[in-house]
Amino acid sequence: MPDADGKRMFDDLSLVLDWIECGRKRPARLRAPETPAAMPESEPPAAEIPAAGPSPADSLEAVAFEVGRCAKCRLAATRKRTVPGEGSANPFVMVIGEGPGAEEDERGLPFVGTAGKLLDRMLGAVGLSRAGNAFICNVVKCRPPMNRDPAPDEQAACMPFLRRQIAVLRPRYILSIGRVPTQALLAAKEGITRLRGRFFEFEGVPLLPTYHPSALLRDEALKRPAWEDLKLLRERMLRDGLRLPSSDKSDVSDKSDVPDKSGA
Ligand code: URA
Ligand code: SF4
Repeated sequence: MPDADGKRMFDDLSLVLDWIECGRKRPARLRAPETPAAMPESEPPAAEIPAAGPSPADSLEAVAFEVGRCAKCRLAATRKRTVPGEGSANPFVMVIGEGPGAEEDERGLPFVGTAGKLLDRMLGAVGLSRAGNAFICNVVKCRPPMNRDPAPDEQAACMPFLRRQIAVLRPRYILSIGRVPTQALLAAKEGITRLRGRFFEFEGVPLLPTYHPSALLRDEALKRPAWEDLKLLRERMLRDGLRLPSSDKSDVSDKSDVPDKSGA
């Protein structure tokens, strides 16, 4: 990277860090990496694509249509709307959460509540957006009642939709948001604290687990490691030659806009 670009990125990222830190003083040193819990990926080639290609006739629209009529698990009985996903049809990053909440269930769109707004700003901080270069969805496409975790059989019933979305979209990376999708995609039992912050692989796509924005809203101390994860993703994208818009400074420099801890 030319020096000027490097400096600009450093400045951008420093601004964002200030935002995430909510103006608190930065510790001089970053946390040392933990020992991997599950097996991390062995640096697959950047251009790797999902092993299973889509069937020629498959499309995002076809998946969304079938999701809309799906009754393969008990969540169909209590949902208001299905939430197949939203974003770029040619994404650098596919963001995968656990399942729709109340607002998502009302609107049929992923991550549109308080946690979703924070997610959008986290993504914006590293040059990603659902309007541009990211696709956002969940492991289950219907809301679990009372926001409980989706049950294993519900996750399994819905997983073919997610696999098809990955095959159609061929994202360069997956950002797995929180414990539930991370354990589901990696078939891991470790908690998110042990799994986050390093790349694994799902369907041939490099997968980075990080904390769920709801967790960041509950616990400020998680913002720093979450930010480290996003920086890691940005560094990887740049290293792999992806062209990213510069980080979303207008958003992140406005500290008054930092959400309070009113919940997700
Ligand atoms: N949390 C999630 O995991 N997914 C959403 O769509 C909204 C909140
Ligand atoms: Fe079908 Fe998935 Fe909704 Fe269950 S959660 S009814 S499998 S779309």
